Amino acid sequence: MDKFEWSSQYNVGVEEIDSDHRKLLSILNMSIESVNHPNTAEIELTDIVKKITAYTQKHFQREETLMEVCEYPHIINHKAAHARLTDHVVKLTEDIDKGKLTAEELAQFLISWLIEHISEVDYYLAAHCVGKEKLITESLKHIPMDDI
Ligand SMILES: [Fe+2]
Repeated sequence: MDKFEWSSQYNVGVEEIDSDHRKLLSILNMSIESVNHPNTAEIELTDIVKKITAYTQKHFQREETLMEVCEYPHIINHKAAHARLTDHVVKLTEDIDKGKLTAEELAQFLISWLIEHISEVDYYLAAHCVGKEKLITESLKHIPMDDI
């Protein structure tokens, strides 16, 4: 499986959201790299799966905080989409543990989900946030996304 290349068309225009998305994609690409080159991979797939879960949760927390401070009117639906994905990832992680799913398949699924979510859901959130950059930066300072 090829790594997924980030393209500027996926930027929604809020730096915090865009940099989170790029980090998530880097982790997903790490799992593809690990599948393609299992002997030279820097970290184990199981650790990558844990990282994917942790970063996704942190990113959702940051996006939901941003929605609250910007008084986003579609917060309930957007949060529900995050909750559905979170539940699904728990199930998929269990499937990996049982050997029913590979980490590559998980990465493939999450890349598709992320790209669709960016263009169909996050895009509208970002459009609502125009002009609120200072408020966003201030509110997210306390919930930093860790370095990979
Ligand atoms: Fe989102």
